[in-house]
Amino acid sequence: MSDGQFVRLAEQDRAPLTLFLDGAKVRALAGDTVLTALLAHGHIVRRSEFGDGPRAGFCLMGACQDCWVFLEEGGRIRACTTPARDGLRLSIDGPAA
Ligand code: FES
Repeated sequence: MSDGQFVRLAEQDRAPLTLFLDGAKVRALAGDTVLTALLAHGHIVRRSEFGDGPRAGFCLMGACQDCWVFLEEGGRIRACTTPARDGLRLSIDGPAA
């Protein structure tokens, strides 16, 4: 059973990875995109800068820009086209100003 928006049905024997989202562990599998990892874990990738709530991506193929997620170290990545890697540290709201 999954607590996330995505439910893993196959390939669950890939090597485990751990990402961090606002300091909380996010378990992922080798070969996941960041978006897959985040949505298998929960229901949010980012908050809309236009005030219409949490976002979970839209196209899932690199075309819509609805999955930008901040890196703790600064900058942001497109979650649906970025491979997950062990130790990656992400932030929903971006680095502290
Ligand atoms: S979900 Fe559309 S670009 Fe990532």
